[in-house]
Amino acid sequence: MCGIVGYTGKQKAAPLILEGLKRLEYRGYDSAGVAVPAGDHFNVAKKTGRVANLETIAARHKLLGHCGIGHTRWATHGGVTDANAHPHVSSDGKIALIHNGVIENFTSVKKFLLEKGFTFQSETDTEALCNLVAYHYAKEAMVEGDSRLLESVRKTLRHIEGTYGIVVLSLDMPDELVCARKGSPLILGIGDGENLVASDVSALVSRTQNVVYLKDGELARLTPDSFSLSTINEGEIEAVIDTVTWSITDAEMGAYAHFMEKEIFEQPLALENTMRGRFSEDGSTALFGGLNLSAAEFRQIDRFMFCACGTAWHACLVTEHLIERFARVPVEVDYASEFRYRNAPLHPNTLFFFMSQSGETIDTLAALREAKRKGFRVLAVNNVVGSTIARETDGGIYQHVGPEIGVASTKAFTSQLLIGAMMALYIGRMRDMSFSDGAAYVAALKGAPDLVRTVLQQAPHIRKIAERFSTYTDMLFLGRLSLFPIALEGALKLKEISYLHAEGYPAAEMKHGPIALISERCPSVFFVTKGEMFPKVVSSMQEVKARKGLIIAICTEGLELPDGLADELIVIPDCHEAVLPIVATIPVQLLSYYIAVNRGCDVDKPRNLAKSVTVE
Ligand code: G6P
Repeated sequence: MCGIVGYTGKQKAAPLILEGLKRLEYRGYDSAGVAVPAGDHFNVAKKTGRVANLETIAARHKLLGHCGIGHTRWATHGGVTDANAHPHVSSDGKIALIHNGVIENFTSVKKFLLEKGFTFQSETDTEALCNLVAYHYAKEAMVEGDSRLLESVRKTLRHIEGTYGIVVLSLDMPDELVCARKGSPLILGIGDGENLVASDVSALVSRTQNVVYLKDGELARLTPDSFSLSTINEGEIEAVIDTVTWSITDAEMGAYAHFMEKEIFEQPLALENTMRGRFSEDGSTALFGGLNLSAAEFRQIDRFMFCACGTAWHACLVTEHLIERFARVPVEVDYASEFRYRNAPLHPNTLFFFMSQSGETIDTLAALREAKRKGFRVLAVNNVVGSTIARETDGGIYQHVGPEIGVASTKAFTSQLLIGAMMALYIGRMRDMSFSDGAAYVAALKGAPDLVRTVLQQAPHIRKIAERFSTYTDMLFLGRLSLFPIALEGALKLKEISYLHAEGYPAAEMKHGPIALISERCPSVFFVTKGEMFPKVVSSMQEVKARKGLIIAICTEGLELPDGLADELIVIPDCHEAVLPIVATIPVQLLSYYIAVNRGCDVDKPRNLAKSVTVE
């Protein structure tokens, strides 16, 4: 959740680190700090609040070195204070360290260090880690030159329980960085006469596109002209250098007011990128290159299990509906955080899918490991290439939507819906779906980007509706079948970025409890579609109206609602069932976005949230 950046090279480190931290702020943002070696001490600037606060005070410090480390924090151990912000410096002043993760045995480590005479300035688990490196560093005084810091970190980590991505500096070797990971992502950026490390590629791509994804249990040592990899238990290993396929402009806001706005409007292109090259030549089914399963093996699967968190979990619910509807194979969906402890009885012929934009969410990763441990084949749907989940699965599907920076997921969500729809097609065509139904399905999916474009054109109308509803404190989102998860997603978006209380329900469930909330002060957003659900949803709307509730109806074109039933109407195109959830998502994204803007909320960095949650 925290952001990590380290630099060693010929440039001044601090400005590059601050630039990297700004790009990582979406990962966690309650405080930030930077440290550079300055002769006999570390020059450290740290401050609660945003990176902008740090920049102001950093200007007053003389952060002149060519090697340094920086961090944005999302508090776990210890409150949000300047003292608890990273980097931490050991009490003997020799070591500086930044950390993402949780040290589970920090109480016993701290006790040991207090007995050895180390002192503590903060309430963090990280400071214990930093002092433990200093303890081993003092003991390793006989190790000559290059490997002293590396060996001290290696020894330290053998005594540490928990998760970490760390970067460590020593005063004695002021152009050297040592980093290590277990459970928290770290990526090396290999430059020309400079090397970097960060928790996310977005902090590296302005300097280099050559990266090395560190694996759990690996350590790296970086100097301006060299880098080497080793493991905690053994010696050196060979590094594989990957190339990042997107550039810095993909991670910039351009003319938009917020990343979230940019990402909402990017969705037609994102959907095109998700499906590019993924349909059969005869245009009747989907193709997935990375599943590492033959059609014959896939055909044998009796059940699918999807695990995810947050928005991705909503995408799994839609996928469940579509696979069961079009492929007639049973699907189960679980919160990853529940699945990992639930010890559910599982059908032996189950195929697992783990959906995660970041590929780093710790609960999803732990659920994946649990399914793997039980001997199941595990696949993933991820956006971030090279992420931990992507690397630990037996195969998977990349979303290809480019970096998603806004904390509230938008384009990654609709891309997951599209992948879910394509999976339903793929599995359906292996079973009973006919060629002509498959061809109509493919044609509908190909048309989805244009339908999304037409809904986006209604942004000014939705903005006006948002103005009317920005001062309300509660809102219900109600939909049926595949649009029930979109109701959940609408409610989540509104909660996340505008801090309004919102709930999503299947429309008919409203009368079993939530109806008690209905009043002139609690509006409802209804998804209204044609078919057998139409009269049912209209009845639910009547029940709301009878209790003076205001209604925003998101309605497919060509339907006639009773006069006066909807207070506000948003018309969306009538489309194939597989595309409908994607198209219906756009109005609720825009509604939440404009409500949050009207309420003066920090849309891209909502309070208390982080883009990827790498602690349990
Ligand atoms: C966090 C974010 C959510 C996101 C969830 C899952 O809680 O705030 O927006 O949906 O993590 O993230 P993932 O990267 O696994 O899709």
